[in-house]
Amino acid sequence: MIAKQCPDIDVKVVDINPTRIAQWNSRELPVYEPGLYEIVADRRGKNLHFSTEVDQAISAADMVFISVNTPTKTFGTGAGKAANLEYVEKCARQIARVSTGHKIVVEKSTLPVRTAEAVKTILSNTGDGATFDVLSNPEFLAEGTAIDDLLNPDRVLIGGENPTAIHALVEVYARWIPREKLLTTNLWSSELSKLTANAFLAQRVSSINAISALCEVTEADVDEVAAAIGTDSRIGPKFLRASVGFGGSCFQKDILNLVYLCEYFGLPEVAAYWEQVVKMNDYQKRRFVQRIVRTLFNTVSDKKIAVWGFAFKKDTNDTRESAAIYICRDLLEERAKITIYDPKVSEAQIRHELELVMQGPDGRLSPVSERLLAENLHVAASAESAAHQAHAIAVLTEWDEFKTANFSAIYDQMHKPAFVFDGRNLLKKNQLSQFGFQYQGIGVSG
Ligand code: UGA
Repeated sequence: MIAKQCPDIDVKVVDINPTRIAQWNSRELPVYEPGLYEIVADRRGKNLHFSTEVDQAISAADMVFISVNTPTKTFGTGAGKAANLEYVEKCARQIARVSTGHKIVVEKSTLPVRTAEAVKTILSNTGDGATFDVLSNPEFLAEGTAIDDLLNPDRVLIGGENPTAIHALVEVYARWIPREKLLTTNLWSSELSKLTANAFLAQRVSSINAISALCEVTEADVDEVAAAIGTDSRIGPKFLRASVGFGGSCFQKDILNLVYLCEYFGLPEVAAYWEQVVKMNDYQKRRFVQRIVRTLFNTVSDKKIAVWGFAFKKDTNDTRESAAIYICRDLLEERAKITIYDPKVSEAQIRHELELVMQGPDGRLSPVSERLLAENLHVAASAESAAHQAHAIAVLTEWDEFKTANFSAIYDQMHKPAFVFDGRNLLKKNQLSQFGFQYQGIGVSG
């Protein structure tokens, strides 16, 4: 977006992974995002360059954005919760090693509060006379809507200490974003705001999902409840869609990171409060499978279930922490035969995700899991073919194309009674009932 909006700024994207860089330089970008290819194709070779020459790019730059991943630690202190800052630290050391003169270093990765302290210390102790300012500029874009979010953000947050450095970054964004949307804060507020924003958003989904469970046993309808509370402008209508559970690479990781920070700073009650958001999400995924099993006469063993959608939401090929992974695993463990269709996710990616989540602690698949993956898991090339001879359809991602499926033809080729479990409340109950389907949405009894 900077390359697009500021033709006079030279943007170099560098990565140590040559395969990734080759993809960025090709027609098949490594991520699917509506509108992204057009922008890359327009600026590539002009003021946008992708390369593996990291040192050269750093030494030529006035401003360096650190945008590496910060996965959850899988080992040692804080395993399962704290962020692994290994890659951020390596970046800081590399920047320090090759820099001369003065540079502004911008934290773009999502980081725990006070990481900038570590980055500053590394930069000021390892460098060769170079000087640095550190800014925090967290990314708020969501996948699937990334281009629009970057073009018209609700706000851009820039945290820092030196007003001159803050001003330099403000001037970049001010080329296309109104100044009142450029918020400047101290470093620590900026770092903490990112984790807090994700925790609040995820909390809304877990709150409405908690209410969905209550709706199912009281004949209330969760969509009606969401609409009713969403009209209170203090609550607002966004991010209140009940679902099979939130997924994606950010929410769970960032909340657990927040939980870890609270524990670290001796605030166990605050940690437990936020951890509950994640627990509610796990409950929602489990509950969806239990409802399918109960409705299909208490057994899905040897029954065929069509799974529509595997990505963590529509308009992305990202499957990280997708609710579909856990739901498919649980269905396989119930011995169901599942056939998955997703318009953007490959069979290899689906199998890889399920293998990871079915492995034992030793990193191996048990013979039973291996057999279930080989014999009970299939991937189809269309929503309709996935439903062929199925007992039920489970909608797990809200892809638009599912709304216009040929339900009459699909109904004809399914076992009867033919069930639809709509984990996204995407389809219309009345319409499906007319074709003969038994329909169950999230947060609606019946
Ligand atoms: C999220 C935040 O929305 C971004 O602001 C943030 O920048 C990003 O994380 C990040 O930290 O990088 P993202 O994970 O791409 O973005 O996706 P969301 O649109 O937030 O959706 C997350 C999950 O919640 C999805 O599985 C989605 O289906 C689910 N969701 C969302 C619901 O179940 N109901 C809703 O009403 C909204």
